[in-house]
Amino acid sequence: MPITPDTAENENKHVAIFGLGFVGLPLALSFAMRGCQVIGVDVNKTLVQELNQGITYHRESYHHTPIQKILRDQLKAKRFYATTDAAEAMAKCDNIIVTVGVPVENGQPSLDHVGAAGRAIAAGLKPGDLVLMRSTLIPGTTRNLVLPILETSGLKAGQDFYLAYSSERIAEGRAFEEFENMPTVVSGIDRTSRDKAMELLSIVTKADLVPASSLEVVETAKVMENISRDVNIAMVNEFARFTKAMGLDIFEVVRIANTHQRVKLLSPGPGVGGYCLPNALHYLAPKADELGVPLPLLRTARQINEQVPGFVVSLVVKHLPVPASRARIAVFGIAMKDFSSDERLSPALDVIGLMRRAGMQVAAYDPVVPTRYDFSVDSLEEAIQDAHGIVVLARQEGIDYCDFALFKSLMSKDGKPFIVDTRNIYIRSKVEKAGFILETL
Ligand SMILES: NC(=O)c1ccc[n+]([C@@H]2O[C@H](COP(=O)([O-])OP(=O)(O)OC[C@H]3O[C@@H](n4cnc5c(N)ncnc54)[C@H](O)[C@@H]3O)[C@@H](O)[C@H]2O)c1
Repeated sequence: MPITPDTAENENKHVAIFGLGFVGLPLALSFAMRGCQVIGVDVNKTLVQELNQGITYHRESYHHTPIQKILRDQLKAKRFYATTDAAEAMAKCDNIIVTVGVPVENGQPSLDHVGAAGRAIAAGLKPGDLVLMRSTLIPGTTRNLVLPILETSGLKAGQDFYLAYSSERIAEGRAFEEFENMPTVVSGIDRTSRDKAMELLSIVTKADLVPASSLEVVETAKVMENISRDVNIAMVNEFARFTKAMGLDIFEVVRIANTHQRVKLLSPGPGVGGYCLPNALHYLAPKADELGVPLPLLRTARQINEQVPGFVVSLVVKHLPVPASRARIAVFGIAMKDFSSDERLSPALDVIGLMRRAGMQVAAYDPVVPTRYDFSVDSLEEAIQDAHGIVVLARQEGIDYCDFALFKSLMSKDGKPFIVDTRNIYIRSKVEKAGFILETL
């Protein structure tokens, strides 16, 4: 059920959100749902136009209300609109939140978006404004990059305007719920900035707001939180290579190991994707290099995760009944994780790329990822038509993964059809009884 906004309390809160992506849009709507006047700023004109028409491809919901309806409701209530005009948003808002990304290219993070957003904010900064950074950053960025840019306005941080950093911890698909219920860590250039940020964040979160002593503590904790997950996944991916050699099912081993009260192994998969985890090491590394800290474990973990798509392809190659150059493979799911529309840095794209480089023809079906690739197809039937094997890389709702009769009727009759399951969705006896080879991690 959508929230009944406490308009009396929040209607005078004017919030500008820079960056309307996977974090910024649901965050903007979370403030709007609670009665704030929210302007979303993005440099992507198409995105801004679509949002103002009530269109978004995100897979989020709040208490079963889909983000599409929340967006349309808030547009209609005039509590939210999107614009490319930063100056207009700066003129109308005194709470400014930044959620632009820090893309990584060949291991090199780029702070260009953060710098550009900072300059657009500086151009319209007013005395009394709060600037709250929520992007995941290289530790030190708020103080060393953002602050000097904002002070080109002639205003002084901590004196004329407030500057704070609060890391964003949501998982895509659970954004609204996690804004509300995930403990949120907050820091400021000074105590007043931190308090101001906590007051603003308390509008959208009922969970603990945890104060930290400096901007750098929170920036560093955020990057380390993400790296810790990357390392833990690398560990279990390595365990999976061992259990496979032993002839054991890694998912059963993990389930059994996790009955230990102090052990919490994660699940292996086709690799690690999305914007957050694969990039995290590259946010820590520049600072570590500057400080002369080598990070061997963290770098090895990243390499292990980067190698998993190659391992998945080796499982496919093992069962090809024809040379790779004549093989046709159906891929189910290109999203970076189950039930997501986000395929950024998705291991599925790596798996597909490697199969194609080996000469295989790939037809991939993912009904919710909006991006069209030259290997994308529009139906499961199209994907499996004449395929020698199926690789399941990410699950999506509404797909019958066990319609073996359909699979058999459409797949190639060259050799025995096979399924490579990287998501632990199949029961071996059923798949084998249906006449398929099942290959798992
Ligand atoms: N996606 C997640 O689940 C998640 C979770 C926690 C933290 N984060 C962090 O939050 C930040 C945003 O991630 P995201 O997934 O929402 O990224 P995203 O790419 O989906 O969204 C970023 C948006 O910022 C816009 N943008 C770029 N430059 C801009 C500028 N100068 N002014 C205004 N808008 C600009 C882009 O057009 C884009 O729409 C990143 O730092 C990410 O690491 C993401």
